[in-house]
This record gives sequence, C-alpha cells and structure tokens, in this order.
Amino acid sequence: RTVFVNGEYLPETEAKVSIFDRGFLMADGVYEVTSVLDGKLIDFDGHLKRLERSLNELGIQKPAEFDDLLEIHRKLVADNGIEEGMVYLQITRGSPGDRDFVFPDPETTRPTLVLFTQNKPGLADNPVAKQGIKVISIEDIRWGRRDIKTVQLLYPSMGKMMAKKAGCDDAWLVEDGFVTEGTSNNTYIVKGGKIITRNLSNDILHGITRAAVLKFAREAQMEVEERPFTIEEAQGAEEAFFTSASAFVMPVIEVDGVKVGEGKVGPVATRLREIYLDESR
Ligand code: PDD
Repeated sequence: RTVFVNGEYLPETEAKVSIFDRGFLMADGVYEVTSVLDGKLIDFDGHLKRLERSLNELGIQKPAEFDDLLEIHRKLVADNGIEEGMVYLQITRGSPGDRDFVFPDPETTRPTLVLFTQNKPGLADNPVAKQGIKVISIEDIRWGRRDIKTVQLLYPSMGKMMAKKAGCDDAWLVEDGFVTEGTSNNTYIVKGGKIITRNLSNDILHGITRAAVLKFAREAQMEVEERPFTIEEAQGAEEAFFTSASAFVMPVIEVDGVKVGEGKVGPVATRLREIYLDESR
C-alpha cells in the first residue's frame, strides 16, 4: 500500500514519523475519515471544511499540502486500487524534537501530515445493515470539546471493548441522563415517524454524514427534531440508528438488552440508508 507522509508518497513500510511527534506523545492532532464508493470520495468537501475548523480551534498550522488534499486523496485511492473503503487523514502539531507541554514555535515545527487508505469491499452492501446492531449505554466521560475531531480515541475505544464484552456492537454515551453520541457515530431515534437526533453543540462531533442525512430526510418531507433524548426514550422508540462516514446509516435494534420497536431493522433507517447511498455516490 502506498501512503502519504509529509509531502511524500511511500510504501507503508518506509513511512516514518518521529518518536517526538506530539500526536504520538500527547494526542495533539486531528483526523478525518472519508469513504470511497465506486472509487469516488464521498462528502469530501464537508470533511475538508471540518478539518480546517478542527485545526483552527486547536491553533494547529495547516500543512503546506493543504490545498492539494483532494488530489492526494484521489492519487492514493487510484494507486491503491480502492473501489470501496476509506481514506484516513491525520494532522498533528508536529515533532519539535523534545517533549514539552508548551506548544512548539510554528516557525520551526511544521505540522505532520499522514494519509493512508483502507480497502473495505462490501461497504455499501454491508449485510450488518440488514440485521441491525446492538448497543449498550455507558457514561460519557470524554472532554468537553467533542466538536473537534481529535485523535484522543482511548475512551471511545474502551467503550467499544465494553460493548464487545457485553455481546454487543457499540456503546452509546450518556451525559446528564441524555445520549450524546456513539463511540464513533451520531445517534438517532424515530418516534411517531419523526427523526430525533441531538442538536449540535460542543458536546458532539458535527457529523458530515449527519448533515447529509438530515438534509436528504428534510428533502424527502420526513420530519426532523434536533434535541437530546434518553436511553429510556430510545428503548421505547419505533426505531434507532446511527450515522458515520464509515458505516453510513446503521440500524440499531437493541439498547441495553431492550428491543427497539420489534427488534428489527425499521423502514425509516432502511430508507435513509438507501437515499444516502443513492444521493452521495
Ligand atoms: N468517526 N461522532 C464521533 C465521536 C465520531 O468519531 C464520528 C466519526 C462521528 C460521525 O461523523 P462523520 O459522519 O463525519 O463520520 C460522530 C469516524 C468515522 C471514525 O472515527 O472512524
């Protein structure tokens, strides 16, 4: 596989980042995941805009190649022959050559830019989306700036492990009694045919798939309400689902051992997945 590191296309075995990189030492970096379907990037502009915002919020410099990111994405997809899969991009504050809590001088330390592809055949035709998944709820103990897409993914990763241990697929995070989001996705319920999802704030990531799905839903005359909901409300809902760049629209059929609706994939999630895949490819 060819990867991109700091201005160079290299075989993955030759790609190197310093041990002093602040991404490695301090999780001082941001990332994006863009899906590829039929060899084409999905929602690239949205991911690029959010990347720019994440960098601005943290005061990380744009890498020199920022304006070439679309071209770099396309070249990696082509060179690695990706038909279905994703492109992972990470930018860190760089490698100042020593460990220090104080940010390095941007004049002397350039940000680190890394991109690689992941081949995932069957992403769109995922059989899991026809069965639905099961989630547990756990407390949301992450930091207060979840709107910034940082590489601080230890707690989401632990949440996934807790879910697996409980025989489930993912965890929904709960703060002050309300669901914030999933470990790596935005969460939704359906009540009275209406789509309910948490409103945007610093408490959740502003999902690119969320924005697209809500737009398509409104265009299809489906009602949308942006507000927080509880686990109990999800358990009593007609349907539940989540969205992310890597899973699109994914039905959730069980929450903390309680079936949602009839415990089967529902019509709203099915329709939204179809619309999203049709409209964005
Ligand atoms: N995760 N919320 C969180 C905490 C996320 O990590 C993600 C994305 C989302 C959905 O955002 P989007 O629709 O823009 O992908 C919501 C990516 C896919 C990941 O970490 O792999």
